[in-house]
Amino acid sequence: MLKIENLKVEVTDEPDKVILDDLNLNIPEGEVHVLFGPNGSGKSTLLQTIMGFPAYRVLEGSILFRGEDITNKSITERAKLGLGISMQRPPNIPGLKLQKLAEFLVNQRRETTAEIGYIAKKLEMREFLSRDLNVHFSGGEIKRSELLQLLLQAPKFILLDEPESGVDIQALKLIGEMTNVLLGTSPRQPTYPWDKSRGGLVITHTGHILDYIHVDRGHVMCHGHIGCSGTPSRLLDDIRNLGYPECAKCHRFTSKDLSLKIT
Ligand SMILES: Nc1ncnc2c1ncn2[C@@H]1O[C@H](COP(=O)(O)OP(=O)(O)OP(=O)(O)O)[C@@H](O)[C@H]1O
Ligand SMILES: [Mg+2]
Repeated sequence: MLKIENLKVEVTDEPDKVILDDLNLNIPEGEVHVLFGPNGSGKSTLLQTIMGFPAYRVLEGSILFRGEDITNKSITERAKLGLGISMQRPPNIPGLKLQKLAEFLVNQRRETTAEIGYIAKKLEMREFLSRDLNVHFSGGEIKRSELLQLLLQAPKFILLDEPESGVDIQALKLIGEMTNVLLGTSPRQPTYPWDKSRGGLVITHTGHILDYIHVDRGHVMCHGHIGCSGTPSRLLDDIRNLGYPECAKCHRFTSKDLSLKIT
């Protein structure tokens, strides 16, 4: 579904500042993968590069989505193909009401706007529809607003950058349940388009979101490179027990021999 080969990426405004290098990732149709890695390792850069944010320039390699090379496609073209993102720190947009954005998103899918009320209610976001996007929203409210927008966009492949960061325990349950709906892994919702072939890539530091959503495979990123892949719970245990400094020292991060990867 998503195939990334030998990706090398620099910051557009700072040529020679390479953030991702020799990055390979393959997410089969319908699978959800999780990405771990220390602060500053390049996780958000990877998600934004997949989505096509102009802040990053691909120097080498390719990104294929459902067999189509999207490496040079615009962010709009990628969204139309079915990619969607929940950002770690989305911008505030004074003057743009959440309701207006919500209507735009459902209209793109030619759905009825009745869906907005239903999903906003589920996410306890109804009162936020009349507010300017993210302006003075709390950290947890921003995460619910991002999820609301994604649910209305109904993308086929979902990029989630720390969906549970700053979210209280009760809201975490809500975010977890609605993320399941988004990924198509929870029972069918009355007004929600059902599509079992949805895939995703989720960044988490704590792993708390994994108590609610099913993920098929995990990857660890250090210094802009995915060096280790395997069962998510096992990777998380290793990270907790050994810490990232040990991960980064691991021969898997320095060796190009893919047979050394744990499975
Ligand atoms: N647009 C940019 N301009 C300059 N430096 C950037 C830019 N984007 C990312 N970086 C740098 O690239 C590195 C990777 O950043 P990124 O946000 O991808 O890390 P991350 O793995 O998501 O970290 P965290 O877990 O803290 O969110 C950091 O050192 C960051 O400062
Ligand atoms: Mg990040």
